[in-house]
Amino acid sequence: MTSGQLDRANTDKPSLEMACPQLVCYADAMRHILLSVYLCGLFFVCPLATFSQSATSAVQRGRYLVNEMGKCGDCHTPHVAGVPDKTRWLKGSPLGFAPLGPIPGWAKAAPDLTASGDLMKTWGENGLVQFFIKGVGPDGKPAGPPMPAYTLTSQDAHAIVEYLKSLP
Ligand code: HEC
Repeated sequence: MTSGQLDRANTDKPSLEMACPQLVCYADAMRHILLSVYLCGLFFVCPLATFSQSATSAVQRGRYLVNEMGKCGDCHTPHVAGVPDKTRWLKGSPLGFAPLGPIPGWAKAAPDLTASGDLMKTWGENGLVQFFIKGVGPDGKPAGPPMPAYTLTSQDAHAIVEYLKSLP
């Protein structure tokens, strides 16, 4: 096909624009609107999704540190016949064991660590985070034995508190 034929082929056929200019204009506007919605999605929804994803992964990391590394439930979860009670996870408990010899400051019970517990109310979220970073409470004192004095990274301390906050 020569360029002359091509021109004729193009001009001979009534184009959509000629036949129905409003429709083309409408389609164009729709295309712009859809593109804007898509771009807004990229700019606003993606950071939101990333944010909620990072909050979820903090809880997951905290769950891992508390339940797999720290084994906090060994002392902080009530046990029934030697087995931790899953319905009262980290709800605080008298210890099921005692030292063979005297240990100064030995604490006989481990407190409730959950969102509804006294500690979350009195120390607050930040008090708890600082406790896991520095190993001392808001009064500047370490917890009595056998509670270990953890000195964690800020990120891990935050993750633990996010997880504790997620427990009823
Ligand atoms: C070997 C038992 C044991 C383990 C394991 C343990 N705790 Fe404790 N925890 C205790 C006891 C007992 C106390 C009470 C200490 C006191 O009254 O002085 C305590 C106190 C605490 C307190 C309050 C501190 C204070 O000064 O009152 C927090 C917060 C805490 N534990 C969090 C945790 C977390 C989180 C973990 C796991 C990462 C954990 N504990 C693991 C026994 C334990």
